[in-house]
Amino acid sequence: MKQNIIVLLCFAICYLSCKDQSKTSNSVIENRGVISKSAMVVSARGEASKIGVEILKQGGNAFDAMMATEMALAVCYPYAGNLGGGGFLVYRMADGTKGALDYREKSPLASSKNMYLDEDGNVIKNLSTIGSMAVGVPGTIAGIFEAQKRFGKLDVASILKPVIELAQNGYKITEKQERRIASYDSLITAVNEKEILYNKKLKAGQTLINTALAKTLQRIADNGRDEFYTGETAKQLIDYLQSKGSIITLEDLAKYEAKWRDPISFQYDDLTITSMSPPSSGGICLNQIMTMVEPFDLEDYGHNSLRTIQVLVEAEKRAYADRSFYLGDPDFVDIPIETLTSDMYLQERMKEFSFQAPTPVDSISHGKIIAYESNETTHYSIVDQFGNAIAVTTTLNGGYGSKLYVEELGFFLNNEMDDFSSKPGEPNYYGLIGAEANSIAPEKRMLSSMTPTIVEKDGEFYMSVGTPGGSTIITSVLQTILNVHEFKMTMQEAVNAHRFHNQWLPDEIRMEPNSFDKSLVKQLQNLGYNINEERSPIIGIVDGILMQEDGTLEGGADKRGDDTAVGF
Ligand code: DON
Repeated sequence: MKQNIIVLLCFAICYLSCKDQSKTSNSVIENRGVISKSAMVVSARGEASKIGVEILKQGGNAFDAMMATEMALAVCYPYAGNLGGGGFLVYRMADGTKGALDYREKSPLASSKNMYLDEDGNVIKNLSTIGSMAVGVPGTIAGIFEAQKRFGKLDVASILKPVIELAQNGYKITEKQERRIASYDSLITAVNEKEILYNKKLKAGQTLINTALAKTLQRIADNGRDEFYTGETAKQLIDYLQSKGSIITLEDLAKYEAKWRDPISFQYDDLTITSMSPPSSGGICLNQIMTMVEPFDLEDYGHNSLRTIQVLVEAEKRAYADRSFYLGDPDFVDIPIETLTSDMYLQERMKEFSFQAPTPVDSISHGKIIAYESNETTHYSIVDQFGNAIAVTTTLNGGYGSKLYVEELGFFLNNEMDDFSSKPGEPNYYGLIGAEANSIAPEKRMLSSMTPTIVEKDGEFYMSVGTPGGSTIITSVLQTILNVHEFKMTMQEAVNAHRFHNQWLPDEIRMEPNSFDKSLVKQLQNLGYNINEERSPIIGIVDGILMQEDGTLEGGADKRGDDTAVGF
């Protein structure tokens, strides 16, 4: 009997330690995520994190791993990982130099301000969200090549090799993935007028092979960035898009360029926070909110306490009201960044704040709104063995973007055009309203909320963090940083913690359901806050990496997704 138990125990230990390599090379402490000594990749899928780490182990750096991880996500997380979308990178080199790359989609040359309005000036339902008119000119391939060319060390063919193998040999469908594909199935089939590779027959545990995508990636590995923008792939893509009625042309693709931007940097206590600048609203809004809340003793109030929620919500309200009016593509509109982020302006903005009652939304600005919530973007964080750190958020916008799937090429196309303001004051998919600053114009980039963020402490790398979640991205990143800094959580606790959100309009605090104490909710309601616990089953799927005091890295992979940290 005893012998049997020992055999069983040995088997169990062997099984557990052989099952998942990512867990053998890293230790997992309770309440902490995966710990590693020199490098780490955290992304929405284990396969993508492992491929990123494989590239690092071959001697590549964070920018080589970026190309591999981003393309691996396009293979095994087509919900948001993409070739047909865009994104933002914020980096901090080992020597402390920081920067940002904008590979956001662009509006086609043939686009126009009122393209989503009917003759009476009303927004045509679904035109900016579903099908070919919703698609913006994709930036992802330009972005990963630009970053890798400037900072990478390996050759593109070796970086893409494991990704192509993943597409060729397949990956396992997870339970969450099975559910997601099933729930989008009828819409995807309707838009494509046939069943595509991703359809409701796919079951968890099944292996999915995408040969068309493997071929596309192989051509990109052979011919480089231009394969996508002027080569065979470009031609196939435009033929397909135009057959579906798109206004995007070969000229649009040929003109696309990723752009280096100066990120937004600001201080909060002893932290230096660096995040994405316009055309994302992430950095500016995060800066505004954190500056508005800095004078309050959040640590003393406590995590998710009544006072903490009040302070954060009121600051968020004001920042989102500014977002809707002032922010857009900096190549097209002048944004008063200095004023918007100045202490004087923000103190003035918070002057009406009171713990006694909410500041009425109309007194901040005007608008009418409905909202919708989901988590269809994806974020990954990488720290390499050389000390470079990156935060990257990439998206197709909605889940599977416009739902248009290019069968010959093996990928979905974005519906990023909906991030423009189709009509002043009219809410988009995320319930965000915009003004002239974010109106449509040829070659303009649509305003984003994506907030890839790097945090430094005492001049050293401290944290890389980001999340999907549309309009809730900014407030999820905010809460994660505060969870670590103010409420002393580990990275894993910080990403898992329950979240809430306010975006000025609609006039409500969204809270994750069954996550907040009923009496706390009642207290907020008694003060005059509208609480909505139904809108968002989850708020954000945050991934992050934290430098611990002993110099090791802790990966925080949000329990809300299939997210996985792998390191060495
Ligand atoms: O750029 C943006 O702000 C949006 N397109 C992000 C979309 C997103 O996060 C989807 N997940 N909810």
